[in-house]
Amino acid sequence: MSSINFKAISPAFGAIVDGFHVDDVQASDKPVLNDALDRFGVLVFPDLDLTESQQLELAKVFGEPSKRSRPAADRAERSPYADYMGLVTNVRKDGVPIGSLPDGEMWLHHDGCFIDEPYRATILYALEVTSVGGETRFVDMRAVFCSLPDDLISRIKHLRGTHSFDYRNIAERPTQATFNGLAKSATHPSVIKHPNSQRPALYLNPLCTVGLEGDGSNLSDNKRLLDLLFDAIDQSEATFSHRWAKGDLVIWDNWSTCHARNDFPAGETRMLRRNIIKGQKLDAYFK
Ligand code: OGA
Ligand code: MN
Repeated sequence: MSSINFKAISPAFGAIVDGFHVDDVQASDKPVLNDALDRFGVLVFPDLDLTESQQLELAKVFGEPSKRSRPAADRAERSPYADYMGLVTNVRKDGVPIGSLPDGEMWLHHDGCFIDEPYRATILYALEVTSVGGETRFVDMRAVFCSLPDDLISRIKHLRGTHSFDYRNIAERPTQATFNGLAKSATHPSVIKHPNSQRPALYLNPLCTVGLEGDGSNLSDNKRLLDLLFDAIDQSEATFSHRWAKGDLVIWDNWSTCHARNDFPAGETRMLRRNIIKGQKLDAYFK
């Protein structure tokens, strides 16, 4: 019998998973781990030593690993898992990054908000970490929703956010001009009902949300409204930063949390192996 238990990271959310052994995952652990992901939003598995195949098996505990949104051509070496396993790294070959999201700070965002069925979860497993910086910061968007004043909620409750992602600028929202040229964009309710827990969560973010639509108001009205909401997200107390150590695996629920990355030294290597778990269409909390 396995003896997994969870230690809270912050008052609002996040947990460290204790007593977990990758070679000994039981069928009964699956609902326990999935319930924990829904409840805590972020799970940290410290000090694992995983092959790509083991990481993919662990990903399958949380759902169906999704093919990567970009071709695997950015992998320096092909591996049988390359379609499901990306690298987040600043390592370059002949000057070209061998993975994605190579450098520096990244603003708060939800992975996959720019597609119609946003990913259920993302997994990062640390192969190499920097001596300082590069922390991944999480925000609990259920708590952010609960912190909003009633008048703000009534202004946004029936609006939908438009989301897009410009891979060239990970610390900047796309402008209207770049937005028009971006291939992928999607709209989702501004307050979603979490598909598993049914709890409300604010589903807007400073990196990808380019507009709010649905009430006939003009863009500049909504820009002010969005700025208020981004401030609430940025300044939320329901946040913690994960300082990476080699061997850490972190999985986060992309529906109830958003995340950002702190800057780190360009001269040091940072390398994480990434999986995404297939998602679904998100329903509005308010009908
Ligand atoms: C991601 C991401 C943050 C990081 O992989 O989606 O946002 O800390 N990564 O590298
Ligand atoms: Mn991300």
